[in-house]
Amino acid sequence: MSNAMKELIEGLSQPQKMISPKYFYDEVGSQLFEEITELPEYYLTDAELEIMRRYVDEMVELIGKQASLIEFGSGSSLKTRILLGHLDELAAYVPVDISADHLQASAQQTRRDFPELAVHPVVADFTRPFDLPTPDITPVKNVIYFPGSTLGNFEYAEAMELLRVMRDEAGDGGALLIGLDLQKDPDIIHRAYNDSEGVTAKFNLNMLRHLNTNYGANFDLDAFEHRAEYDEEKGRVVLELVSQKDQNVTIGDAEFAIADGETILTEYSHKYTLKGFARMAHDAGFEVEKVWKDPDKLFSVQYCVRA
Ligand code: TRP
Repeated sequence: MSNAMKELIEGLSQPQKMISPKYFYDEVGSQLFEEITELPEYYLTDAELEIMRRYVDEMVELIGKQASLIEFGSGSSLKTRILLGHLDELAAYVPVDISADHLQASAQQTRRDFPELAVHPVVADFTRPFDLPTPDITPVKNVIYFPGSTLGNFEYAEAMELLRVMRDEAGDGGALLIGLDLQKDPDIIHRAYNDSEGVTAKFNLNMLRHLNTNYGANFDLDAFEHRAEYDEEKGRVVLELVSQKDQNVTIGDAEFAIADGETILTEYSHKYTLKGFARMAHDAGFEVEKVWKDPDKLFSVQYCVRA
């Protein structure tokens, strides 16, 4: 049995059933995710873009000359392009992604758009330590870029582990530029993950279709509903799929009974306070040096230096 299959069966055998968020992203899922970022209720992308546009010069100043910019993720976003468009003296730009295809395509595009830039893509799972390339120009420092509040999709312990990997990859004198969603009026957060067009619901449910098509599962898509509740106490959105009846689902040779109203956990999206993240950064070996927010104070981009 493949590791993926083992992992899926293990997740569905827990008292709280869960499926890893990585199964969101087949081709349809990636397309739906793009659509989420364009929804009027989904404030995160607009707010982060606004911050990048307003404060890119201050960011460039802090990053300095001859740095190596290491992006955790493939770097196809508009935010990255704003940054690269203003950083004219980079030693290298290093996008890191687990999907080789995705990475090659987006690196090609980056090379076309920034012909002077030394682009060194690295295929790696960035949650584990990986080797950095050696660019022609020796970087003065490494700056990790991690936009999109993606840190929030990791549980606390894993987020801390990831911050420590970033600290080690940044090295002495290195830094981290990170986009993080902030705690705010719960209604605003609730609407962002329960959009009126139902795109987020489709995205969540698509995971089951993906498992049916590629992992031999037999989920009945009509027998599950999307749920996204904001837990204000824990400061996180909980994405789940709720069973609409007592049912059995098979995946490979394994069979699971799912009760009416039982949930499958698909993802968290943590929202931060400035204090809360400052403490996490500190515990991982970073100090927050600068925080930028959009005018409505919905989102933050933070520059952290190695302690
Ligand atoms: N990191 C962003 C967020 O938490 C984007 C994202 C990741 C997302 N997974 C998602 C958005 C699932 C909606 C649903 O919001």
